[in-house]
Amino acid sequence: MTSDSAIQEAEAAIARLATPPMIEDPYPLYSAIRRVNRVYESATLGAYAITGYKEVNAAARMANMKNGVRAATTQRADWQEHESLRLFLRALVNLDAPEHSAMREVASSVFTPNAIKQMRKSIEALAHRFVDDLAERAKSGEPVDLVPTVASPFPVSVICEMLGVPDNQGMLFYKLANDWTRVWGGGNYSDADLAQADTSVVELRGYFSELFEARRAERRDDLISALIDQHEAGRLDDEDLMALATFLFISGFETTTNLISTGIHTLLEFPDQLARWRGNPDITASAVEELLRHGTPISGTVRLTAEPIQLGGQEIPAGKMLFLMTAGANRDPEQFPDPDRLDLTRNDGGHVSFGGGAHYCLGANLARMEAQVILPLIINRFSTIEVAGTPEWRTAIGLHGFEHLPLVLSE
Ligand code: HEM
Repeated sequence: MTSDSAIQEAEAAIARLATPPMIEDPYPLYSAIRRVNRVYESATLGAYAITGYKEVNAAARMANMKNGVRAATTQRADWQEHESLRLFLRALVNLDAPEHSAMREVASSVFTPNAIKQMRKSIEALAHRFVDDLAERAKSGEPVDLVPTVASPFPVSVICEMLGVPDNQGMLFYKLANDWTRVWGGGNYSDADLAQADTSVVELRGYFSELFEARRAERRDDLISALIDQHEAGRLDDEDLMALATFLFISGFETTTNLISTGIHTLLEFPDQLARWRGNPDITASAVEELLRHGTPISGTVRLTAEPIQLGGQEIPAGKMLFLMTAGANRDPEQFPDPDRLDLTRNDGGHVSFGGGAHYCLGANLARMEAQVILPLIINRFSTIEVAGTPEWRTAIGLHGFEHLPLVLSE
C-alpha cells in the first residue's frame, strides 16, 4: 500500500521538477515518484509519470500512441498563426503514423549508417581542431568555458559538414535555432519567446531556402543535395523539405552538446572512472553508453494514448498524456544495480536515452561517434581538469546539460 506521505512527496517532487536545484540533480525526485508507482497518475501533472525502465521501454514501442508534444502544442488555438510552431509540428519527431512513417523512410534513406560512417575522418579532424583551441585558451591558467569552446561548436560543425551548411554560417544558424527550440517544450515559454522564435524561424528558413537553391543548381556530396533529390523525386513537398532539413540540423547538435558537457563533468565527479578510461581506450564504447545512461541528455518525451493501453499492470484510458521519464528509467535500480554509480564497463542492459520504437533517434550512431572521439581526446590531452567556479545548467525543459562549464585545464 502506498502511504499518503509517499504520494505527497511524489507530487511535491513533480511540482519542483523544472526548478533549481532539481534541474541539476533530478534523480532523487524520479525515485520519489517511482517509489509510489512506476506508472503513476499525477494530479499535479494531469498526466502519467513513467519512471520504470521496463515501462518506459514498453510505452515508447507501443503503436497506439500519438506524439504528446504535438497534442499539447495544437491545444493552443492560434498555433497555426505562428511560423515557429507550424514548422515545429511538421518536424519528423512530431509526426504520427502514417505521415511519420513516410517521412522517416525518406530521412533514413538520406541519413544512412554509411553516411554516418563516412563522417569519421571529418569528426576526428574537427575534434582535434576544437581540442587544440581549448588547449590554447587553457594555457594562461584562466578558466575556459567548455560549452562555447567545444561542447556546442563541435557538434554544430559536424552537422554543418554533413548537411552541407557552410561552416561560417553554423554559429549564426545555431543562435536562430536556439531561439526556436525555446518553444519546443509544449507550453512553458513567454509571448516574447514565441515572437522571437517566429522571427528567427523566418530568418532560418531564408538561409535554408538559399542553400536549397544552390544545391538545386549544383549538387554536392552532402545531405542537403540528397534531400533535394528526394524533393525532385516527389517524396517530399516544399514544406517537408524545409521541416526535415531544419530538424536534422537542430537535432544534430542540441543534445550531443549536453552529452559532451555532462560527460566531462560526470567524469570529474568520479575520478576513479576517469583514471580508468585514461588508461584504457578499449572501454571507450561502453564508457560513452554509460555516460549516456548516467547523464541522459534528453530527460524524457511525451506520448498521448490513442486507445486504452495496458502498462505496468494498469489500464490507461485513451486520451491520456504519458511523460516517459527516460532519465528516471535510466536510474531504475531494477534494471541498473546501484544506478547512481558511474561504472564505465557496466553491461546490465541498454539505456533508453535515444528513446525507442518508431521515433528511435535517427542520429544515435552519429552522437556516439562524436562522443567516442572527443571525450577521450579531452581527457587524454589534459592531465588535470578542474571545475572553476559555479557551472550553470541549461533550464530548457527536457534538456539536461550545461549552459556554462568553466574549467581549468593543464596538459
Ligand atoms: C546524445 C545525443 C542525442 C540524444 C540523447 C538523442 C535523443 C533522442 C530521442 C530521445 C529521440 C526520440 C524522441 C521521441 O521519441 O519523442 C530522438 C529522436 C531523433 N533524433 Fe536524436 N538524440 C541525439 C542526437 C541526435 C543527432 C546527432 C541527430 C542527428 C541529426 C539526431 C536526430 C534525431 C532525429 C531525426 C529524431 C527523430 C526520429 C523520429 O521521430 O523518427 N539525434 N533523439
